[in-house]
Amino acid sequence: MATQSSYDVLVIGSGAAGLGVALRLAGRASVAVLSKGRPDEGATAMAQGGVAAVLDPGDSIEAHVRDTLAAGAGLCNEAVVRFVVERGPEAIRWLLDLGVPFTTEATEDGQIRYHLTREGGHSHRRVIHAADATGRAIERTLLERARETAGVEVLPWRVAVDLITTTKLGLPGRRVLGAYVLDRELGRVEAIRARCVVLATGGASKVYLYTSNPDCATGDGIAMAWRAGCRVANMEFMQFHPTCLYHPQAKSFLITEAVRGEGGRLLLPDGTPFMHRFDPRGELAPRDIVARAIDHEMKRLGIDCVYLDISHKPAEFIRRHFPTVHARCLEFGYDMTREPIPVVPAAHYTCGGVVTDLAARTDLEGLYAVGEVAHTGLHGANRMASNSLLECLVFAEAAAADIAAALSRAPAPPALPEWDESRVTDSDEMVVVSHNWDELRRFMWDYVGIVRTTKRLQRAKRRVDLLLGEIEEYYGHFRVTADLLELRNLALVADLIIRSALARQESRGLHYTLDHPEPDDSRPPADTVLVPPAAPAAGSPRHGHGAGTS
Ligand code: FAD
Ligand code: SIN
Repeated sequence: MATQSSYDVLVIGSGAAGLGVALRLAGRASVAVLSKGRPDEGATAMAQGGVAAVLDPGDSIEAHVRDTLAAGAGLCNEAVVRFVVERGPEAIRWLLDLGVPFTTEATEDGQIRYHLTREGGHSHRRVIHAADATGRAIERTLLERARETAGVEVLPWRVAVDLITTTKLGLPGRRVLGAYVLDRELGRVEAIRARCVVLATGGASKVYLYTSNPDCATGDGIAMAWRAGCRVANMEFMQFHPTCLYHPQAKSFLITEAVRGEGGRLLLPDGTPFMHRFDPRGELAPRDIVARAIDHEMKRLGIDCVYLDISHKPAEFIRRHFPTVHARCLEFGYDMTREPIPVVPAAHYTCGGVVTDLAARTDLEGLYAVGEVAHTGLHGANRMASNSLLECLVFAEAAAADIAAALSRAPAPPALPEWDESRVTDSDEMVVVSHNWDELRRFMWDYVGIVRTTKRLQRAKRRVDLLLGEIEEYYGHFRVTADLLELRNLALVADLIIRSALARQESRGLHYTLDHPEPDDSRPPADTVLVPPAAPAAGSPRHGHGAGTS
């Protein structure tokens, strides 16, 4: 038997959250950072607008807190909002020290300062950015630093399959011991031991047919945590970004909200503005309101898209602020310096996730969740623009501090059972995976999208129940592939979204249902917290892959 890999800390995910934890732990622990594909293929590298933080003397912590609470529609945890917002300026200083090249501008008196842009819900300019490719600059810098840091190993092409826990092995306590990981290059699953495990796997927006997200956003961390016995909260709050490029080949390419922040207007096909009819803040209302307004107008008029117009600004200004968006639109035949561009909403962000505390701890000892995978209480019923990267950075620091303190107490994990493939064969029906994948994403889009009804949600629930059964049977009989693992996780996450949406009998933030079109003000707003069934005990594996994987 080959020696099992063993680390102090296993970080699953190499975006801002995962690399943030790894770098903050540098010199204090041995760390492995996994990514499903190339390390820079997550949502972080795609981020456009920037990172929200109080950096302008005219702005204040109170104002950032207030804006976040307002966008969150009554469901943010104010203590968490304060915790994050207060640590924002330090998080930005850390990025600057690491070398992230944020965009600067010259003031009238010749000083150089960082340019701050504006986005929906923000009452001030407070979004620091690297033109319109902020995420690329952050991801590149964090990866470079991680690769040159002793004690941090970045391991690409590794898909975490499931967490290994004391409960699953029939040992005392409720602790994580490591994870089973599919090495896509070698085509085999290995057990990796760790004293602590950090889920930094990003969101789950691939559960929808149209999404701004990268292919890896399949909710793996949420599904793994749930199967390991952790609570998951507020999954009904899936955020739809109002403006993705409408073009059959554009794969829902995002048009950053900063375009509206710098004066872009939303127009109907005949050139009429409409946002003022929905909210006095117009184009800069929070995202749930703008996306719903667009959806409403598209359905009312039977149109395929609306238009975003910033062509009234000087062409040089547009090219300087939005070089990536401008170039991408040109590829599809639209010159945003001269004409409006066609846009539609698409699934963008998972506000809910694995329940964590202020140190990013989950319900399992030794297991942390950081970034989009987590439900910290920051976003409530609707995340405010550019608060996500901020959350990744602040909680990465908090998790690293807690892990560093906990490591000396954390027991070395025992040798783990090897992955058991003795009862499975290679799949002879890969079409089942691709068919179920398409079906799932389509009914989620049609029945669990921007506007919901109880009847549509129940329809979706019946379909997801069928799929879950089929997928579990398939999983029990065939050797795992990355596609099968993602489908299994997506179906589970879809189920959690539908159950949460059915449980919320009101409209609030991103959850809008025609059956209950108003918020329920008869009682205080509450999170939707789902509690998993008790994890099956050791010795009762539900399928062919052995005791550690149920
Ligand atoms: P990610 O950056 O998505 O990284 C997830 C990592 O987990 C990847 O490395 C992936 O390979 C890995 N992974 C997943 N599952 C597994 C598994 N089973 N095994 C091993 N590895 C796994 N937010 C802002 O604040 N400002 C913005 O301007 C902004 N713009 C955005 C633009 C776009 C187009 C998108 C899609 C999102 C944007 N967001 C923005 C949201 C923000 O980018 C994300 O919420 C944030 O980057 C998430 O970071 P993360 O580290 O949690 O996950
Ligand atoms: C954008 O640039 O519009 C995305 C910002 C975000 O999702 O926070």
